[in-house]
Parts: sequence; C-alpha cells; structure tokens
Amino acid sequence: MHNITLIKGDGIGPEITDAVVKIIKAVGVDIVWDIQTAGADVIEKEGVPLPQRVIDSVKRNKIALKSPVTTPIGKGFRSVNVQLRKELDLYANLRPCYNLPNIETRYENVDIVVVRENTEDLYAGIERQVDENTAESIKIITRAASERIAEFAFDYAVKNNRKEVCVVTKANICKLSDGLFLDCARKIAKKYPNIGFREILVDNCCMQLVQNPNQFDTLLLPNLYGDIVSDLCAGLVGGLGIAHIGKDYAVFEPVHGSAPDIAGQDKANPTAMLMSAIEMLNLKGETTAAAKIKSAVFETLKSGIKTADIGGNASCSEFTNAVVQRL
Ligand code: NAI
Repeated sequence: MHNITLIKGDGIGPEITDAVVKIIKAVGVDIVWDIQTAGADVIEKEGVPLPQRVIDSVKRNKIALKSPVTTPIGKGFRSVNVQLRKELDLYANLRPCYNLPNIETRYENVDIVVVRENTEDLYAGIERQVDENTAESIKIITRAASERIAEFAFDYAVKNNRKEVCVVTKANICKLSDGLFLDCARKIAKKYPNIGFREILVDNCCMQLVQNPNQFDTLLLPNLYGDIVSDLCAGLVGGLGIAHIGKDYAVFEPVHGSAPDIAGQDKANPTAMLMSAIEMLNLKGETTAAAKIKSAVFETLKSGIKTADIGGNASCSEFTNAVVQRL
C-alpha cells in the first residue's frame, strides 16, 4: 500500500485527476490518496494558493501527483509550482519526451529524457541594476548541485535501461561556470562505465535535435539550457509529464496548464497526467502496473479513441473508460 498526496488543482485539474485515480484503481495498485486542494479556488477560502497543509502532506507522504493549478496574474502570489520546488528542494526536473501511437508529429521513434538542474544557474535570481543603462544577472553553478544532478541523470539511466547521458553546456564561452558543470558530469560519468557519455555544446545540440532527434537518449543540462531545450524536445513530439525530484520528495505533474476554456466540459485529455502517474508508479517500484497502464493507453490511442485536442471526438470519460476496459 502506498500513501500519496494528490493535489487536485483547478480548471480541468479535478477531471483529469478523477480519470487517473480511476485508471490506477483498475490496474490494482493499492494507493491511499491524501487529497489536497490548491490553486485559484483555494485563495478565496484560505488566502493563499498553496496552504502549508499541502506542503506538510507531501513531506509526510514523500511523493505527490499534482494536476495543474491556475496562477493568478499580477496578484502578488508566488506560483504554486515554484513554491513547491523551493520548499521541497526538488532539484531534478525530469521530462521524458516520446511519441504516442496514432498521433501525427514531425518525427517518429523519439525517446529523449531531459534532466534539468532545477535550483541554480541564472534562476538563482541574483540580479541588480548597475546603473540606468546596465543590468547584471549572476549565473551560479556549484560543484554540489552539479554533481548531484549528474548523479541523478546517470542513476536514472541505469534504473530505466537507458544507454547514454549527453551533457549539454556552453563551456567554450562560460569557461568557469559551465566548465564546472561539465567537469562534474565527466567525474560522475566515470562511476558509470556501462552508460555511454557524450558532450555537446547547447547551440549544436539544438540544431542536432531539430535535424535528427533520434540520436539522443538522456540529456543532462544546467537550469537555463534545460528550460529551453526541454521545451524544444517537447515540441518535437508533444511533451507530456514532468517530474520534480529531490533527495527526499518527488512531485509529478502534466506539462499543460489548467485549461480554463474547457474546464468542467468533460473534454480534457488526461494522457499527460496519466504519463506523469506512470513515472510516479515506476519510482514507487510499481513497474508492472506502470507498463500495463502505458500499454492500455497506447492500445486505446491506436484504436482511434482520442480526445478533441489530438483530433478525436471522445470525451475525457469515454477515453478513461476505454483505457480501463483494456486493463
Ligand atoms: P493551458 O495548458 O492551460 O492551455 C493551453 C491550451 O491547451 C488551451 O486551449 C487548453 O484548452 C488546451 N489544453 C491544455 N491542456 C489540455 C488537456 N489536458 N486536454 C485538452 N486540452 C488541453 O495553458 P494556459 O492557458 O497558458 O494556462 C492556463 C492556466 O494554467 C494559467 O493560469 C497558468 O498559469 C496555469 N498553468 C499551470 C501549470 C501547472 O500547474 N503546472 C503549467 C502551465 C500553466
């Protein structure tokens, strides 16, 4: 039995959450969901979008599945996602990008996992206005953070039968900062002789990704390049879920937002949330159940049952029931 925090979010959040819970129940994994609400609706009742009770719940259970939450624009609230990452020290941002059956994309057989360092680099937020005409932003790269993300990437590669880790930097220009990140990756690579290791500069990496994405397996990047390149990879095939992982805690969520335009209409596609749940089940050691759900989703898509966003006419509940039937 697993205790897992379920953050329901708002917009389409509750619909896709219900779909995923139903599918996981059908596959027979025993989960006690600690249901926590967060987001725009919660602000009205509790004054903040991410109450302390949600963070406490994730700390208690160590793991959370999160549906999207609306971030109010210009109201002075910190993004729920940024706050969660900070509070739980979720230093690894993991984004698998792969093709789904019966969905047309530019490339076939793409299977790339992007591992992005999530705590430092230009995102450390150290900026200052030097004078009226000059602003300065400081890029922080530390040995500790670089080694732990490299270790994470190689460890993930081993546990998930991947073949190679490719470290992506601009170490020819940022010789000290990216140079340190690269050195750390080289050092950790030596501990994993069974996983291939490759180095590439970020500009070349982007060109190669667009020309021939199939050559890449697992990418390891500092925060800023990771942010940009993970979106590039998502664009190659349509990115689905993300995992934010730390030493003690992990939060899994779909890439998309709360889609207020279709909320409450039974039109949402739960696939990205499901793919996040699959990664979560894998982390919990429920690899057989995870594989079963993945193959049921693939079979459903192959049979032409798709929601409107990917060219079909099934509702969220019709798609969900079709997956459950195949389990
Ligand atoms: P969005 O991803 O919510 O929607 C963009 C478009 O994609 C809309 O037309 C929507 O209907 C469609 N869409 C998104 N997910 C879908 C799904 N599962 N099935 C079918 N169609 C889907 O992005 P948008 O509109 O920029 O953001 C809406 C809200 O979500 C904002 O408040 C934003 O801050 C928040 N957001 C939250 C995220 C999170 O919690 N991780 C991530 C991204 C945005």
